[in-house]
Amino acid sequence: MGVVGCGLMGHGIAQICAQAGWDVVTRELDQERLDAGIGKIEKQLERAVEKGKLEQSDADAVRARISPTLDYADLADCDLVIEAITEDLEAKLAMWREVDAIVKPEAFFATNTSSLPVAAQADVTGRPERFLGLHFFNPAQVMPLLEVVRAQQTADEAADLGFALGEKLGKTTVAAGDNRGFIVNRLLVPYMLDAIRAHEQGVGSIEDIDTGMKAGASHPMGPLTLADFVGLDTLASIADVMADAYGEERFAQPDTLRGLVEAGDYGRKTGRGFYDYSGEKPVATDPAG
Ligand code: 3HC
Repeated sequence: MGVVGCGLMGHGIAQICAQAGWDVVTRELDQERLDAGIGKIEKQLERAVEKGKLEQSDADAVRARISPTLDYADLADCDLVIEAITEDLEAKLAMWREVDAIVKPEAFFATNTSSLPVAAQADVTGRPERFLGLHFFNPAQVMPLLEVVRAQQTADEAADLGFALGEKLGKTTVAAGDNRGFIVNRLLVPYMLDAIRAHEQGVGSIEDIDTGMKAGASHPMGPLTLADFVGLDTLASIADVMADAYGEERFAQPDTLRGLVEAGDYGRKTGRGFYDYSGEKPVATDPAG
């Protein structure tokens, strides 16, 4: 298995695949990013051992199945390559062109895109029928769902592989069409954007909007905490793609989101977004102020 990108999603995908028994080659752009991603996996494995959920020898075996690399050439023998790089179509297309030229022709390719067209990515490879979308949810180690996305070109064999992979990973699978946002983000993204607009319009404070949805609708996280958790840069990219595709105001980026992203405040991963994560507990910021 190859996993391209070892960030928020990529490290989790690499970890669960290694835990399911596959040898995983994980590729990043530079050593710093690679070390950070592998460090996260090692921490998760350590915690699992501390909690008594994993024997030390099993954790060691999982870690040993993961081979970090900076070189696409190390993906050459993979049977399946999953990409989890930045949510930017041009970057993904450039990556697939490069990977397609290196990886054996019988291998399958999958994109973990949140919103970009699977078909457009399949088209730049010489194996569009062996290309599909596998959309994992953050944190990939915990969230039970896997959306299996079939593009126009995806052959039955590739779609079947997606469902079989989900089963082996212990995920619940759903079949989603190659529309922008698939099933979950089509519904979840406008909800988060609407929560941001509700805050802009003075409907409630950041904490009260979050508490409202947790205590009033039994959501595990409020929408603004969730936006920080997903990454505000990612949320903004998805919003742009969906606004472009559907032409509806509810998918457009609210001003507060645009401002936070422009300031480099991407949420939890940068330590600041709708909340400040530098202290012991997250503290709401004043993003519109
Ligand atoms: N990585 C790995 N494991 C994690 C983790 C992480 N980042 N965060 C939490 N966990 C594990 C914990 O270790 C714990 O494991 P245990 O049960 O074995 O002890 C378990 O998850 C529960 O964690 P906590 O007790 O610390 O905290 P919570 O009970 O509050 O759960 C949560 C944390 C699972 C993240 C929960 O708050 C939740 O489900 N939040 C909503 C997440 C969500 O909606 N994700 C989807 C986002 S949309 C998306 O990803 C699509 C993309 O395209 C934008």
